[in-house]
Amino acid sequence: MAILVTGGLGYIGSHTVVELINNGFEVIIVDDLSNSEKFILYNIEEITGKRPIFYPFDLRRKELLTQVFDAHQIEGCINFAASKAVGESQLKPVDYYENNLFSLINILQEFKERGISNFIFSSSCTVYGQAETMPIDENTPLKMPESVYGKTKQMGEEILIDFAKAYHRKISLLRYFNPIGAHSSALIGELPIGVPNNLVPYVMQTAAGIREKLSIWGDDYPTEDGTAVRDYIYVVDLAKAHVKALQKLINDNSDEALIDIFNLGTGNGSSVLEVVKAFEIANKVEVPYQICERREGDITVAYANVDKAEKELNWKSETSLEEALRTVWQWQKYLESKNS
Ligand code: UD1
Repeated sequence: MAILVTGGLGYIGSHTVVELINNGFEVIIVDDLSNSEKFILYNIEEITGKRPIFYPFDLRRKELLTQVFDAHQIEGCINFAASKAVGESQLKPVDYYENNLFSLINILQEFKERGISNFIFSSSCTVYGQAETMPIDENTPLKMPESVYGKTKQMGEEILIDFAKAYHRKISLLRYFNPIGAHSSALIGELPIGVPNNLVPYVMQTAAGIREKLSIWGDDYPTEDGTAVRDYIYVVDLAKAHVKALQKLINDNSDEALIDIFNLGTGNGSSVLEVVKAFEIANKVEVPYQICERREGDITVAYANVDKAEKELNWKSETSLEEALRTVWQWQKYLESKNS
């Protein structure tokens, strides 16, 4: 069964491609390499023994996408391809709406015309904003996200729900909490393109001496140690959830629409300081830091209730924070050896 994976050379995409291949799926990647590199494809082959079919183009190029659907018997899609820098999205809203939504709609046109079902969408816990109660389950009311990036995720969800209802198709909206870590082989991970915005890549580069100091954005939050709390989920665990979500869609034999929504996290919150300490202990390195003002738009606390994924997907995260942070450091060592 051929599965189209858009953004399949990106961070979460590449880990999911590995899990799909390990589970016997034929994978077709479309990725424009805007936030990824070709060597990831060869490293996926090194890990799995199979090189996925790869098309390097921008999904807004509908005519090229049509050719891919003509050439292969595609039976599902996992859509990772999107721009995802929160700050940049505020400065370039039109580009973000165009890139993230046009590419989605182009794929859905192909699905609609060819009668294909089984669509998995990369969403984010950002759709909940600062939830009133913790942990966050799938029935928690959504809030309009503050960032344009977040809005494209919420709009994408709505487009897909309408698509599933109108054409009786099967979709899964996966709301990720904070993905971290790299594959245990250290051959794929989050590529350090530009100055990292996310916590764990910044911690990694600070420990490696690439950045002088980590800035901790605020220690006056109403949390135990004053720093903000998130749910950090190991990327390989997250990738495995995609395979389970896809298998659930494929195994559903009804002709009705199926709209699955799952929160994917560990169910545990960790503060920024806890992450820094866990990184230091896991890797026996130091992470110099300074406390700074809060970052605009940040929420205080977010962690998932993962009961629904556990019950309906038979999935839960298996990897501890420290183990995940160990893979981050191995990935940094790999990048250093690759560049030396
Ligand atoms: C961010 C995005 C979110 C996106 C997610 C992807 C914002 C406001 N939200 O979430 O939409 O889905 O990434 O993983 O950007 N921190 C520091 N110093 C740093 C970097 C981060 O103290 O240099 C803190 C942040 O203030 C936050 C925590 O670490 O409390 C996690 O930050 P980050 O990794 O950027 O993720 P989110 O803000 O949760």
